[in-house]
Amino acid sequence: MARKPVIAGNWKMNTTPDEGVQLVEGLKKRLSGINDVEIIVAPPFTHLSRVGEVVEKSNIKLSSQDMSPKDSGAYTGEVSPLMIKAVGCQYVIIGHSERRLYFGETDESVEEKVTAALNHGITPIICIGESLAEREADQTLNVILTQLKGGLSCLTAKNLKDIIIAYEPVWAIGTGKTATDEQAQDVHHFIRKTLAGLFGEEISGQTRILYGGSVKPDNVSGLMTQPDIDGALVGGASLSVESFEKIVKFNRS
Ligand code: PGA
Repeated sequence: MARKPVIAGNWKMNTTPDEGVQLVEGLKKRLSGINDVEIIVAPPFTHLSRVGEVVEKSNIKLSSQDMSPKDSGAYTGEVSPLMIKAVGCQYVIIGHSERRLYFGETDESVEEKVTAALNHGITPIICIGESLAEREADQTLNVILTQLKGGLSCLTAKNLKDIIIAYEPVWAIGTGKTATDEQAQDVHHFIRKTLAGLFGEEISGQTRILYGGSVKPDNVSGLMTQPDIDGALVGGASLSVESFEKIVKFNRS
């Protein structure tokens, strides 16, 4: 079964709610009718409800950038899976490197959140990736293996189809340095091979693995022609209608 490409925009902590609505209204107009690419936007929590109303019944799907693993309770500042689902989120980004770096996210908390997302029928977009120091020390594949095995022991051959993996080398995020097509493909291939070893070839062949880290209109098609790259998680370039449109239309030029 062919894997449907996914282009997801991670807005991070950018835009006011009004600007976010304007951005997504622009995208909705320019991307209408595209059904061969899964299009996802991940605005800040404060925007989800309004952006969710704009994209309702369109080909643009909604994601949050994180969530609590708990359903409700005394967890000041947290937002639960039930809450994001109620405003239309079908996806949630989990374990982004910025959350690992600045907010103490660990493989264990990633695992807890992935389990909660799956229990609530929300597709987790699980981020993994090595730092520059780890790449330079030739530790890339070890780091990926640890993150895959350590954080994802809740995965099974049955629920693997319900997740998306995003490989994001930390040194390529927001730096303008993209991994070369080959560097990215090598790691994607390793991830797929690891999943095949754990869960079997067939299911691993159906799992979508996105690349993230300075994806732009001019480098997306090279990345997307790699056999194990199934899409992109886009930060900076998802904040403009023009550039996100071009990235979504990577196969239409
Ligand atoms: P970037 O961010 O495209 O700005 O590098 C990607 C991400 O962090 O998801």
